Amino acid sequence: MERTFIAIKPDGVQRRLVGEIVGRFESKGFKLVGLKVMTVSRELAEQHYDVHREKPFFSSLVNFITSSPVVAMVWEGEGVVASARKLIGATNPLSAEPGTIRGDFGISVGRNLIHGSDAVETAQREIALWFKEEELVSWEESS
Ligand code: CMP
Repeated sequence: MERTFIAIKPDGVQRRLVGEIVGRFESKGFKLVGLKVMTVSRELAEQHYDVHREKPFFSSLVNFITSSPVVAMVWEGEGVVASARKLIGATNPLSAEPGTIRGDFGISVGRNLIHGSDAVETAQREIALWFKEEELVSWEESS
């Protein structure tokens, strides 16, 4: 079954939006299979954002994600990667539609609350980077 990697960034944790954000994924019907609150090392941040290494905002991106704890999660379900991106909204919260997480709670592209994998292959890479196999669970609804 398809899985995606989601991280609630330091601004989302500090603004007490963890419950709100987790609730949106639960309400949609996706399955939580991994969750941890953690401080991100520079090494992990640089690997995670490797595709942005040449961008002018790379160092501020790494500084921010390592500045304070994040909530890292793995969600599972059919089409979860693309659907999560829709729930999250556009990268720049000012362009994000109302009803999306960024559209409802953000105004700054550098403080856009949440990260979600942009493709199935990216999700596989990010899940392997952030989680050990034994930190993820498989479960079914009991009848
Ligand atoms: P994220 O989904 O975590 O992936 C890369 C991040 O880079 C993105 O969310 C934004 O937070 C950040 N980002 C993108 N564009 C800019 C920008 N122009 N200035 C600062 N940060 C940016």
